[in-house]
Amino acid sequence: MSSPLSLNSTILIVGAGTWGVSTALHLKRRGYKHVTLLDPYPVPSPISAGNDVNKILELGTFAAGADSDERFVANTLISEATKGWLEDPVFKPYFHETGCIIAATSAAGRAHMNCASGPSEDAGWVPLKTKEDFQATMPKGVLTGDFPGWEGWWMKKGSGWIHARKSMESAAREAERLGAIFVTGDEKGKVESLIFQNGDVKGAKTLDGFEHRADRTILCAGANSGIIFDMKDQLRPTAWTLAHIKMTKEELQLYKNLPVLFNIERGFFMEPDEDKGELKMCDEHPGYCNWTVNPQNAQRSSVPFAKHQIPKEAEERARGFLRETMPHLADRPFSFARICWCADTPNRAFLISKHPEYPSLVLGCGASGHGFCHIPVIGGFITDAMEDKLEPRMKHSFRWRPETAVNRKWDDLQDRFGPEGSNRMMNFGDIVEWTNIQPEIAEARL
Ligand SMILES: Cc1cc2nc3c(=O)[nH]c(=O)nc-3n(C[C@H](O)[C@H](O)[C@H](O)COP(=O)(O)OP(=O)(O)OC[C@H]3O[C@@H](n4cnc5c(N)ncnc54)[C@H](O)[C@@H]3O)c2cc1C
Ligand SMILES: *[C@@H]1O[C@H](CO)[C@@H](O)[C@H](O)[C@H]1NC(C)=O
Repeated sequence: MSSPLSLNSTILIVGAGTWGVSTALHLKRRGYKHVTLLDPYPVPSPISAGNDVNKILELGTFAAGADSDERFVANTLISEATKGWLEDPVFKPYFHETGCIIAATSAAGRAHMNCASGPSEDAGWVPLKTKEDFQATMPKGVLTGDFPGWEGWWMKKGSGWIHARKSMESAAREAERLGAIFVTGDEKGKVESLIFQNGDVKGAKTLDGFEHRADRTILCAGANSGIIFDMKDQLRPTAWTLAHIKMTKEELQLYKNLPVLFNIERGFFMEPDEDKGELKMCDEHPGYCNWTVNPQNAQRSSVPFAKHQIPKEAEERARGFLRETMPHLADRPFSFARICWCADTPNRAFLISKHPEYPSLVLGCGASGHGFCHIPVIGGFITDAMEDKLEPRMKHSFRWRPETAVNRKWDDLQDRFGPEGSNRMMNFGDIVEWTNIQPEIAEARL
């Protein structure tokens, strides 16, 4: 039996990343008096998937679902998130409603893009068929490429990009102002294990040996959640690759208020942020894992690690993407790069649930590569799960579901694409060559 829940309950959040800070904010807004977060790093953690200049506010096309219940969940999530970006003063300053372009190149990629619930003129999208169509979406001189084989759609409103790091910091600041306590540091904040007692979870133990006891424990450790608690193969830590290039003053003048450009088989970029004047881009691929076999039980798992370099092959893909879109930038050196870990559930739906066996444990993980843009509201859903208040369809979608991960197909592409040759799940263990970018900041440790 867990202790009855009240506003006086002690609540411990493991991980002060994207979902952890959102949860702290919503708990404080609902009046919970004792909220503590544990993280090896102060916000923004260098290993948080949200510690990034910018992210896409989820495109309507990916809010699709196989049936009406799934569509309800996807639409609820995206419309609540959008409301948060447009109305909540904590998040509003960081949403740039610049619109977005979605594109594909191969027949399979186009078929995916143009699925029944995909973009259409009826839904307000403008079709893009020629190189001139693409070039006309941005000021002259930005998109100088030939867009070979590209087809796409342009949505001018209701989507765009968000300043990820700043919005995460803003949420953390507000949670702290409302009284949430952040315990951080290599030893003091890093959770080694949960505290199991009488068939329940009673808090977490940090590396310094301290036992943080709590009435409820919420696990929000992103890709590292499976290291702390046995997630029964429901999470696959998967990494993507990102790189920055420095822009000149003149280019920065030109590269303003640009829609996000995303080719689901090539990559994406967003306009440079105002602080560092760097253009961020990601090459697109189904993801990298770091496969490791446990010698004791022969179990296979993907183990995250931090690195401020990317595989050479990812650099080549990123440059290939630039060559098709902005060849004038294609050979410019990278000023920054990193790998970035998220955790995929088998169907890429979130995992937000009380644990069926440990009544005081709540899971808030499985963001599946699309969890950032939900930061304004995701903590509200996680709090709803703790309070047993989730709408039934949401609860079903978010449930603890190990049965869906039995004999999991670890190499499943999960509806993701990449250019020919990289249209498969990849393993960091196979990478021999990495970029050699002089890091401006010290290499983060895990
Ligand atoms: C390259 C890339 C591009 C992306 N683009 C988008 C996008 O455009 N739009 C979008 O919506 N989403 C995007 N995502 C996905 C999004 O970033 C993630 O879904 C989201 O940030 C995950 O949030 P989280 O809280 O689960 O994990 P994180 O933000 O990673 O937080 C996990 C936290 O746990 C902490 N932690 C780790 N180990 C421990 C421990 N032992 N004890 C205590 N704390 C610990 C970490 O320090 C970290 O702060 C992208 C992801 C990547 C990698
Ligand atoms: C993969 O994970 C293992 C731990 O199991 C780690 O020792 C190794 O360094 C990781 N791989 C890379 C390429 O860093």
